[in-house]
Amino acid sequence: MIRVRVPATSANMGSGFDTLGVALNLYSKLEIEETSGGLEIITLNNSGNVQNDKTNLVYRAMDHIFREVGYSPKGLKIKQDSAIPMTRGLGSSSACIVGGMLAANALSGRKLSYSEIMDLAVEMEGHPDNAAPALYGGFCVSARDCGKVYVKSIKLKNDLKFAVMIPDFFVATRKSRGVLPETVSLKDAAFNISRASMLQAALTSGDYDLLRIGAEDRLHQPYRKSYIDGFDHIFEHTYKIGAKATYLSGSGPTIMSILTGSGEAFKSDMESFFSENSHKWKCMLLECDNVGSVLSEV
Ligand code: HSE
Repeated sequence: MIRVRVPATSANMGSGFDTLGVALNLYSKLEIEETSGGLEIITLNNSGNVQNDKTNLVYRAMDHIFREVGYSPKGLKIKQDSAIPMTRGLGSSSACIVGGMLAANALSGRKLSYSEIMDLAVEMEGHPDNAAPALYGGFCVSARDCGKVYVKSIKLKNDLKFAVMIPDFFVATRKSRGVLPETVSLKDAAFNISRASMLQAALTSGDYDLLRIGAEDRLHQPYRKSYIDGFDHIFEHTYKIGAKATYLSGSGPTIMSILTGSGEAFKSDMESFFSENSHKWKCMLLECDNVGSVLSEV
């Protein structure tokens, strides 16, 4: 049996649209075995809307690998237990794709390298900023060129907390990409290049006071905030109570704050803020996962 554990991820990090992402210590776990026939999919935990037929994303990712390497399993049993909330901007789809691909590669004789799996995962997902940290862990900078994905994963120090604020509604990535403009001005492009570069400098140097400016964005958040009630108010409040940076996680609707210290006071303040403002949001404190996906054969 193959076991795979894949971390949740937070993509874009404000300024790094389709480029930057970080892995978090919240996990999707898969147990997969080849059987004598048929397809059995068991979903546990956070699996309300998960399909248990050939449309299942883990299965589709596995099938992608099997086709690539020319392997036909007789049957498959897939057990999926994910703590990553679905369609909230925390990389639940990437976790399915990366986990399924790693398992399929192991079942079919490990013919593909991590780098080849990365390329195929991004081919399925469309952008690398979740898939890269899901596979490699840490803070990842990714660039895609002619189907090849280049990734640099940087391990972060364990002195940061990620306060994940998750609302009770979801927005599909397809919808939240649909509100983005086809073209942007040179001014806005230059704005984001400076911010994304600064974000990387701040994270890697430990000069966390620069994170706030580094997370600023003009490419996607201004368009996406319209579907998040109270967006500006929430951002302002996080900064008032000490967030080093606040951004829309992936395509949202989860909002992320990066913190120093334990984060406990921030969490309890945000919980009061949400209840006073009748927002049904949950706040969870996470840390960077520097390990990435872990596969074992038992
Ligand atoms: N970079 C992607 C987007 C992340 O912003 O649409 C989606 O999770």
